[in-house]
Amino acid sequence: MKLSKNMKYSFCTCGLSETLPICDHSHREYNLINNTNYKSLKITPDSDVNVDVKSSTWKS
Ligand code: FES
Repeated sequence: MKLSKNMKYSFCTCGLSETLPICDHSHREYNLINNTNYKSLKITPDSDVNVDVKSSTWKS
């Protein structure tokens, strides 16, 4: 995934987002129902960069 300098990205950590790997705030309802505390991982790169994005909570 290509990330652009000074752009703010919010990556999903819960695995429920419909827009993986980007958070769509689905974690909020899940946290309320399940008493969990998932939050997105926020990244603002200081240069243009390509990254591999993976999480054990994602199904693919
Ligand atoms: S939807 Fe998964 S962390 Fe926000």
